[in-house]
Amino acid sequence: MADQQLFSLVERMTLEEKIAQLMQLAVPFFEGAEESGQITGPMESLGITDEVVRNSGSVLGLAGAKKVIAVQEAHLRNNRLGIPLLIMADIVHGFKTIFPVPLAMGCSWDPGLAERSAEIAALEASVSGLHVTFAPMVDLVRDPRWGRVMESTGEDPYLNSEFARAFVRGFQGNDLSGDVHRLAACVKHFAAYGAGEGGRDYNTVDMSERQLREYYLPAYKAALDEGCEMVMTAFNTVHGVPATGNKRLMRDLLRSEWGFDGVLISDWGAVKELIPHGVAEDEAEAALKAIQAGVDIEMMTSCYIHHLPELVSEGRVDESLIDEAVLRILSLKKRLGLFERPMRGADPEAERELVFCDEHRHAAREAAAKSCVLLKNNSVLPLQPEQRVALIGPFAASGDILGPWSWTGSKEDAVTVEQGLRSKLSSGRLITAEGCGVSSMTEQQLEEALKAAKEADVIVLALGEDSEMSGEAGSRAFITLPEPQLELIKRLKPLQKPMVVVLFNGRPLDLHGVLDKADAVLEAWYPGSEGGAAVAELLTGEVNPSGRLSMSFPYSVGQVPVYYNHFNTGRPKDAPDAQERYVSQYLDIPNEPLLPFGFGLSYTDFSYGKMKLSAEEMSPDQPLEITVSVTNAGDMAGEEVVQLYIRDMSGEVVRPLKELKAFRKLLLQPGEQQDVTFTLTEEQLRYHHSDLSFESDAGQFCIMVGRNSEDTETRQFKLRK
Ligand code: GLC
Repeated sequence: MADQQLFSLVERMTLEEKIAQLMQLAVPFFEGAEESGQITGPMESLGITDEVVRNSGSVLGLAGAKKVIAVQEAHLRNNRLGIPLLIMADIVHGFKTIFPVPLAMGCSWDPGLAERSAEIAALEASVSGLHVTFAPMVDLVRDPRWGRVMESTGEDPYLNSEFARAFVRGFQGNDLSGDVHRLAACVKHFAAYGAGEGGRDYNTVDMSERQLREYYLPAYKAALDEGCEMVMTAFNTVHGVPATGNKRLMRDLLRSEWGFDGVLISDWGAVKELIPHGVAEDEAEAALKAIQAGVDIEMMTSCYIHHLPELVSEGRVDESLIDEAVLRILSLKKRLGLFERPMRGADPEAERELVFCDEHRHAAREAAAKSCVLLKNNSVLPLQPEQRVALIGPFAASGDILGPWSWTGSKEDAVTVEQGLRSKLSSGRLITAEGCGVSSMTEQQLEEALKAAKEADVIVLALGEDSEMSGEAGSRAFITLPEPQLELIKRLKPLQKPMVVVLFNGRPLDLHGVLDKADAVLEAWYPGSEGGAAVAELLTGEVNPSGRLSMSFPYSVGQVPVYYNHFNTGRPKDAPDAQERYVSQYLDIPNEPLLPFGFGLSYTDFSYGKMKLSAEEMSPDQPLEITVSVTNAGDMAGEEVVQLYIRDMSGEVVRPLKELKAFRKLLLQPGEQQDVTFTLTEEQLRYHHSDLSFESDAGQFCIMVGRNSEDTETRQFKLRK
């Protein structure tokens, strides 16, 4: 449908029909939908008439080819102008084949893997009738108390940006109109939802514009530069105004400065939440502020429907604001080809054949294996062929390893650790016991665990957080493992058997009582449908762990927020002339995280040669080349993530001690050596100055290359301008 046709379509629409296009409803409102679909927020009676449903523009949380076809067919019959529905849902890390949560994927340091996972998710979701996914979530996170850190790829703006691009490429492909097996992506939550005070979900966010632009905005911009079709507003305030009613953020920055002319959708109820935020007296004012901010679709509340007509008739809202919103929505439907093919990719036959197929499950297993991070290993892993293994813990036989955003997945279909190990270990070698629940323990469970452990040569504990302890509205003030699980470790320790802990969790945890007591710790996060199979491949050495942390593990929750790209302060504790007391430190814990950004172990050893620079100076037209040789000095093939950081020694504002600027994940066979060359450009040295200008400063820099943010070789160079 040409743009002129869209214009004329809008002209033929009544004001009520146009406003209904701006309304997104959950599944139960629609004829032909048998069940409630995915409900991800507070439901409320919306006072919606049948006419509004007939004219609404989109539905969220509907999946299933037959269901979508039934709902779309009914809608096209009932809608006066035959405008098709947009079918949207959260397909964040997989549809039926669930991939590792994004925080795990970020630890793979493999954007190609993320792209593939999104491509598969789009294929499965599109044949099941979906058009749009509310992903990628690219909120930068520094506070593991927040339940949604599992949905982010971590604490670094550059790494998050690389993954944001990859997810958008995977979801959308490069021909969204022609390829019905792709989804329109919706980057979220704009903006800085991950910076809620106290790590408490939905809490206040307040930071300088410079901080926002330097750290929190790059990944959203990267997604949009990759062509992301939609943006979702955040629940929080930005500069004192809730994002969903924030003209400065949405009109001035997102649309004018960045040139985004796609669809902006509110997060669940965020339009009406302008009232409790205290910037709208009533729903009419909430509707006024949201439409003025440029929010095109109101999700799951009915301020637009109930109040825009009168706001227009009173002249407080110009109808052109509504026309532009409708036009953006209809343009998206056009780009998706919905006017010609309203069923788009919905195909029950293809659904049966492709959803959760072996090829997709294999990809999920590979992604899980590459996302797990080996945090400790006192030479007890990989397990040895003849060892008898006692597998104990609440996650030994649990399918609750999909993570909180897996509503279309099935825990019952997940491969558990027990199933994975049974397929690897010869019969009789695996002894199992529950040991405890996630947050409880009985004497009997403990006795059975002790008995199993006594019969074994090595203990494997599968511990963690259940999916209710993470995800949206899942903030925790104390981020240790639940006490019964710590008690289980304590009670097994005196047996003096090698003890391996595998963690299933959605956030960096306070690992006191775990890392100090276990002989090995494998961080599996929520690894998805094939998680148990991947963990078994890693424990038995079939696959060599290659994950590296994309978010720091705090020494204690008292340190939070703790992140690698922090400033030096005027009284750095580790300065050569630092005093004993009057420096930036805690009296009771170290400043450093327990495990740093970029950290992860392997079953093999990688050695680094001396870094070589192409010059001691660089300039805007003379980039710097940095070469380092990496050797696999062990007897097992493995993947290393070579990381490159810089430090601007003196800026117009304070600059971080280190900033990730490049990385390379490379596979090395035993004894193999590879030279890794990075090219550093002047653009990569730019940052936001106090006047928000984005430029580099001539002067002294350090360059650091190594295996994680703390274990690097440092050299110096100058930037000449
Ligand atoms: C939820 C989440 C958002 C999700 C939306 C629709 O409240 O904040 O990420 O996309 O509702 O399910």
